[in-house]
Amino acid sequence: NTVTGLVVAMDGPSGSGKSSASRGVARALGLRYLDTGAMYRAITWWMLRQGVDLDDPAAIAARAAEPVLTMGTDPDAPSVAVDGADAAGPIRTAEVTGAVSAVSAVPEVRRRLVAEQREIIGAGGIVVEGRDIGTVVAPDAPVKIYLTASADARAARRTAELTGTTVEAQKAAMARRDTLDSTRKADPLAMASDAVELDTTPLNLDEVIAEVLRVIKEKV
Ligand code: DC
Repeated sequence: NTVTGLVVAMDGPSGSGKSSASRGVARALGLRYLDTGAMYRAITWWMLRQGVDLDDPAAIAARAAEPVLTMGTDPDAPSVAVDGADAAGPIRTAEVTGAVSAVSAVPEVRRRLVAEQREIIGAGGIVVEGRDIGTVVAPDAPVKIYLTASADARAARRTAELTGTTVEAQKAAMARRDTLDSTRKADPLAMASDAVELDTTPLNLDEVIAEVLRVIKEKV
């Protein structure tokens, strides 16, 4: 089986459809699935609860090693726990989403999480989604996909997932987070030179999954 040790790197901005597509691809090929954004969110949630001053990168760095993360990699039931407590719900709140860019910009946080991500990837057999998977975490991954979508499509998708928000508010929040994520010094969001760019704007989920599977078949 040629996909046994395969690593598929799925990068792109928020709302590009990475999570659903990554899970669908993992499911179709019987691979594991790792949501690296959930790891940055989990540390951010822990920092907020600890009262760490998120305007102070040194304060974030000083405590970056403390929380223990446990990631479940079943694409049908991905899970994230912090110090043994389920964090799947709390990491999706607007509070965490608004704070995660500041925490993920701190090099000590990234160093720690990149090391853990490589450990989870291990011998492969996994679809990994994030911002720096093809460039930093798994630069040797044989398949790298960079998902994009128009700002309107991304905001509309995100708005459909949330309650109590509008497309315009989402568009503004996503533009802010994209700017922070792609202009930070440490491992910014970027497309690897050997990645295949896929614009998901006109595609539905099944079409995105089919296209990624086609790229995998071509490369492996
Ligand atoms: O994919 P997401 O929206 O859940 O990611 C949350 C934040 O985590 C995102 O704004 C930037 C950061 N992140 C990162 O810096 N590197 C990754 N590999 C994944 C996410």
